[in-house]
Amino acid sequence: MHRIPEPELMTDPEQARAYAAADFSEAHDHFIDQFRAHFPDFAGTGVVLDLGCGPADISIRFARAYPDCHVLGIDGARAMLDEGARAVTAACLQARIQLQQGYLPGLALPAGDYSAVISNSPLHHMCQPMFFWQTVLKVLPVGQPLCVMDLVRPEDTAAVDRLVAHHAADAPAVLRHDFRHSLLAAYRPEEIDRQLHTAGLAHLSAERISDRHWLVAGAR
Ligand SMILES: C[S@@+](CC[C@H](N)C(=O)[O-])C[C@H]1O[C@@H](n2cnc3c(N)ncnc32)[C@H](O)[C@@H]1O
Repeated sequence: MHRIPEPELMTDPEQARAYAAADFSEAHDHFIDQFRAHFPDFAGTGVVLDLGCGPADISIRFARAYPDCHVLGIDGARAMLDEGARAVTAACLQARIQLQQGYLPGLALPAGDYSAVISNSPLHHMCQPMFFWQTVLKVLPVGQPLCVMDLVRPEDTAAVDRLVAHHAADAPAVLRHDFRHSLLAAYRPEEIDRQLHTAGLAHLSAERISDRHWLVAGAR
């Protein structure tokens, strides 16, 4: 099944509100568990960059898991960052989580200052995914942890229907719509491996970790 792109930034306030209110605890806790499992020696200090942070749920879970780190969350969508700012305040983590509007490519961040890059699910929004990997290469020092998770595009529309029914049956219509279109827009692990190869990150590869997710985890 061919990839069907979806809009890059999630700029609609209603969409952002619904996304922020959704319960992604299973997938997001899994992401944190995967980070811990792949990087048992991570000191948990410094500034961790969360690319495409959306409403900051992963940033918050990460900051709670590693109480000595700071997180800088970047997203191109103001509506998502507004939801994120509310969530960070509710979690009383304003001192350790900073959110900043930024767009890939063209993100103006100092290189070499980050102790890790984490990212969940912006890649399937991007028609030019190499911009994502090039940003990682620019900002993350060699040897530092890189942990990226996103959706796997299913083999066919019947499999898309099954996943939406299984994971979003009770979700609001806007979220069911988004989930379906995100699955259709997602990259397959073998496509991610080709991107990594082209980017000069061929020592990394995408591992399938659930019925709907792949993960890239390793030292940059
Ligand atoms: C599906 S959301 C994931 C949000 C968050 N990481 C999470 O796991 O809940 C994808 C986010 O990536 C952002 N995004 C997509 N393409 C982007 C780009 N080129 N530059 C910056 N942000 C982008 C969207 O605005 C959206 O907030």
